[in-house]
Amino acid sequence: MVSEEVSKLVDSLIQKYDGHLISVLENIQLFCNYLPSDYLREVSKQLELPLRDVYGAATFYKTFYLNPRGKHICTVCLGTACHVRGGNFIIEEFERQLHIKRGKTTEDNNFTLETVNCMGACAVGPIVIVDGTYYSYFKTLEARKIIRTILKESEKVDITKDKRIFPVKVNCPKCYHSLMDNEYLIDGHPSVKVTISFLDKHGWYRLSCLYGVYNVESEYERPHGVVANYFCPHCHAEMLGTFLCPLCTTQMVSLVLTGGGSVHVCPMRGCKGHLLDV
Ligand code: FES
Repeated sequence: MVSEEVSKLVDSLIQKYDGHLISVLENIQLFCNYLPSDYLREVSKQLELPLRDVYGAATFYKTFYLNPRGKHICTVCLGTACHVRGGNFIIEEFERQLHIKRGKTTEDNNFTLETVNCMGACAVGPIVIVDGTYYSYFKTLEARKIIRTILKESEKVDITKDKRIFPVKVNCPKCYHSLMDNEYLIDGHPSVKVTISFLDKHGWYRLSCLYGVYNVESEYERPHGVVANYFCPHCHAEMLGTFLCPLCTTQMVSLVLTGGGSVHVCPMRGCKGHLLDV
């Protein structure tokens, strides 16, 4: 049973667009954010077109959607040019940050994550489009920032919900200078600032001070699987420890805890190996 509201809207659109099917569908999508099946049936009835023709048009054009979409649309280009420049890492980062797979919408209907095969801007790829804004030369680390900006959320992680997550304060194991940066927050807490080197890059790197949280920000994007050397930004000594990562066996970085003990983190990008020694 089609509601009166659906029937009236379809009728008004048919009048307005003189029965032009695509224009009617475009405006239903503008109104509903996708093309619900009851609207398509009503279009078919009022235009006296077979339902298969209406569905044919709705499925032929990529701009039409038959399933509900999120308020915010993140589209990652996976065409050949963008793919070879890291498009796959970018989509994986969006999947991680949004906790959904490509093609899906978050449970709160806030975000939909989509892929596309080429946006015609290969020379400035990889390309990501968020809510209609094009981002060229996209860096994987930007995904998190963009999502955070959209949400305008407090970066604060609710550490009361998970007792395994707690803030730590760390110091250089050589000069004992504090590595905490009170001016630059990650997850609503002072970040841990170090410098890192990998390949031919050398720059700042900030980690969340929440033990058990893996959010980082970095001057240079580091591909997954690449190991970095960590240095104290004050005395410039390398902070390599003696422990091996329990997950990947890379030699871990050791930092001294304020108040006693040490924390060890794996320097391989993407590895979540960490140890606490108190
Ligand atoms: S392959 Fe991404 S814009 Fe062409």
